Amino acid sequence: PAHAEVVDAVLAACAGLEGPLLPILHGIQDRLGHVPPAALPRIARALHLSRAEVHGVVSYYHHFRSRPPGRRVVQVCRAEACRSMGAEALLAQARQTLGCSEAEPTSACGGHTVEAAYCLGLCAMSPALVIDGQPHARMTPQRLDTLLAVAPA
Ligand code: FES
Repeated sequence: PAHAEVVDAVLAACAGLEGPLLPILHGIQDRLGHVPPAALPRIARALHLSRAEVHGVVSYYHHFRSRPPGRRVVQVCRAEACRSMGAEALLAQARQTLGCSEAEPTSACGGHTVEAAYCLGLCAMSPALVIDGQPHARMTPQRLDTLLAVAPA
Protein backbone atom coordinates (compact mmCIF):
# COMPACT_ATOMS: atom_id res chain seq x y z
CA PRO A 1 0.00 0.00 0.00
CA ALA A 2 1.05 3.59 -0.70
CA HIS A 3 1.19 4.46 2.98
CA ALA A 4 3.39 1.54 3.92
CA GLU A 5 6.63 3.42 3.40
CA VAL A 6 5.59 6.22 5.75
CA VAL A 7 4.36 3.74 8.31
CA ASP A 8 7.61 1.77 8.15
CA ALA A 9 9.69 4.93 8.52
CA VAL A 10 7.74 5.99 11.61
CA LEU A 11 7.96 2.48 13.06
CA ALA A 12 11.72 2.47 12.57
CA ALA A 13 12.10 5.93 14.12
CA CYS A 14 10.03 5.05 17.20
CA ALA A 15 11.13 1.45 17.65
CA GLY A 16 13.45 2.18 20.56
CA LEU A 17 10.99 4.28 22.56
CA GLU A 18 9.39 3.06 25.72
CA GLY A 19 5.62 2.89 25.13
CA PRO A 20 6.02 3.51 21.40
CA LEU A 21 2.39 3.07 20.30
CA LEU A 22 1.15 6.65 20.85
CA PRO A 23 4.25 8.31 19.35
CA ILE A 24 3.90 6.00 16.35
CA LEU A 25 0.24 6.87 15.85
CA HIS A 26 0.98 10.58 16.23
CA GLY A 27 3.88 10.30 13.79
CA ILE A 28 1.72 8.60 11.18
CA GLN A 29 -1.15 11.06 11.54
CA ASP A 30 1.25 14.02 11.39
CA ARG A 31 2.59 12.79 8.08
CA LEU A 32 -0.53 11.35 6.45
CA GLY A 33 -3.28 13.40 8.12
CA HIS A 34 -4.85 10.19 9.40
CA VAL A 35 -4.01 6.68 10.55
CA PRO A 36 -5.03 4.33 7.73
CA PRO A 37 -6.81 1.22 9.04
CA ALA A 38 -4.56 -0.82 6.73
CA ALA A 39 -1.57 0.30 8.82
CA LEU A 40 -2.87 -1.25 12.04
CA PRO A 41 -1.83 -4.87 11.38
CA ARG A 42 1.65 -3.63 10.46
CA ILE A 43 1.92 -1.65 13.69
CA ALA A 44 0.58 -4.57 15.72
CA ARG A 45 3.15 -6.93 14.24
CA ALA A 46 6.02 -4.54 14.86
CA LEU A 47 5.05 -4.01 18.51
CA HIS A 48 3.99 -7.61 19.22
CA LEU A 49 0.48 -6.47 20.06
CA SER A 50 -2.83 -7.83 18.83
CA ARG A 51 -4.72 -5.90 16.17
CA ALA A 52 -7.53 -5.46 18.66
CA GLU A 53 -5.18 -3.74 21.10
CA VAL A 54 -3.96 -1.29 18.49
CA HIS A 55 -7.48 -0.69 17.22
CA GLY A 56 -8.64 -0.09 20.80
CA VAL A 57 -6.08 2.66 21.32
CA VAL A 58 -6.82 4.32 17.98
CA SER A 59 -10.54 4.42 18.64
CA TYR A 60 -10.12 5.52 22.28
CA TYR A 61 -8.34 8.75 21.34
CA HIS A 62 -10.63 11.13 19.45
CA HIS A 63 -7.54 12.77 18.05
CA PHE A 64 -6.83 9.95 15.60
CA ARG A 65 -8.71 9.89 12.30
CA SER A 66 -9.13 6.77 10.23
CA ARG A 67 -9.79 8.73 7.05
CA PRO A 68 -8.00 11.67 5.42
CA PRO A 69 -9.31 15.06 6.57
CA GLY A 70 -10.77 17.71 4.28
CA ARG A 71 -8.77 20.69 3.05
CA ARG A 72 -10.04 22.62 6.06
CA VAL A 73 -10.37 21.15 9.55
CA VAL A 74 -12.72 22.68 12.13
CA GLN A 75 -12.38 21.34 15.69
CA VAL A 76 -15.07 22.42 18.14
CA CYS A 77 -14.41 21.92 21.85
CA ARG A 78 -17.22 20.08 23.56
CA ALA A 79 -15.65 19.65 26.99
CA GLU A 80 -17.33 21.04 30.10
CA ALA A 81 -16.48 24.76 30.10
CA CYS A 82 -17.25 25.18 26.41
CA ARG A 83 -20.32 23.00 26.58
CA SER A 84 -21.77 25.26 29.27
CA MET A 85 -21.22 28.23 26.96
CA GLY A 86 -23.06 26.84 23.95
CA ALA A 87 -20.43 24.69 22.24
CA GLU A 88 -22.90 22.00 21.23
CA ALA A 89 -24.90 24.52 19.20
CA LEU A 90 -21.68 25.72 17.54
CA LEU A 91 -20.72 22.16 16.67
CA ALA A 92 -24.17 21.55 15.17
CA GLN A 93 -23.93 24.84 13.27
CA ALA A 94 -20.52 23.94 11.83
CA ARG A 95 -21.70 20.48 10.78
CA GLN A 96 -24.84 21.81 9.16
CA THR A 97 -23.11 24.69 7.36
CA LEU A 98 -20.33 22.49 5.98
CA GLY A 99 -22.35 19.36 5.24
CA CYS A 100 -20.64 17.15 7.79
CA SER A 101 -22.07 14.84 10.43
CA GLU A 102 -20.81 12.91 13.43
CA ALA A 103 -20.82 9.70 11.39
CA GLU A 104 -19.26 11.40 8.31
CA PRO A 105 -16.99 14.12 9.71
CA THR A 106 -15.63 15.00 6.27
CA SER A 107 -17.98 16.59 3.73
CA ALA A 108 -18.74 14.62 0.57
CA CYS A 109 -16.59 16.94 -1.56
CA GLY A 110 -13.71 16.55 0.88
CA GLY A 111 -13.51 20.29 1.42
CA HIS A 112 -14.17 20.31 5.15
CA THR A 113 -13.81 18.18 8.20
CA VAL A 114 -15.69 19.00 11.40
CA GLU A 115 -14.47 17.25 14.54
CA ALA A 116 -15.28 17.43 18.22
CA ALA A 117 -12.33 18.23 20.44
CA TYR A 118 -12.01 17.70 24.19
CA CYS A 119 -10.52 20.81 25.82
CA LEU A 120 -8.28 23.05 23.76
CA GLY A 121 -6.78 24.76 26.80
CA LEU A 122 -8.94 27.87 26.27
CA CYS A 123 -11.54 27.14 28.95
CA ALA A 124 -11.30 30.66 30.41
CA MET A 125 -12.32 32.03 27.01
CA SER A 126 -14.95 29.48 26.09
CA PRO A 127 -16.52 28.49 23.85
CA ALA A 128 -13.44 27.75 21.81
CA LEU A 129 -12.66 26.13 18.49
CA VAL A 130 -9.73 25.65 16.16
CA ILE A 131 -9.79 26.15 12.40
CA ASP A 132 -6.74 24.80 10.57
CA GLY A 133 -4.66 24.94 13.71
CA GLN A 134 -5.70 28.52 14.51
CA PRO A 135 -7.51 28.88 17.87
CA HIS A 136 -10.60 31.08 18.13
CA ALA A 137 -12.00 31.90 21.59
CA ARG A 138 -15.29 33.36 22.87
CA MET A 139 -16.98 32.14 19.72
CA THR A 140 -20.46 33.31 18.77
CA PRO A 141 -22.78 31.91 16.08
CA GLN A 142 -22.32 35.13 14.07
CA ARG A 143 -18.52 34.97 14.16
CA LEU A 144 -18.58 31.30 13.31
CA ASP A 145 -20.78 32.06 10.30
CA THR A 146 -18.24 34.58 9.07
CA LEU A 147 -15.30 32.21 9.62
CA LEU A 148 -17.06 29.33 7.86
CA ALA A 149 -17.94 31.48 4.87
CA VAL A 150 -14.26 31.51 3.89
CA ALA A 151 -13.65 28.78 1.32
CA PRO A 152 -10.92 26.24 2.06
CA ALA A 153 -7.54 27.01 0.45
FE1 FES B 1 -13.19 23.98 25.91
FE2 FES B 1 -11.29 23.73 27.78
S1 FES B 1 -13.34 23.13 27.87
S2 FES B 1 -11.19 24.75 25.89
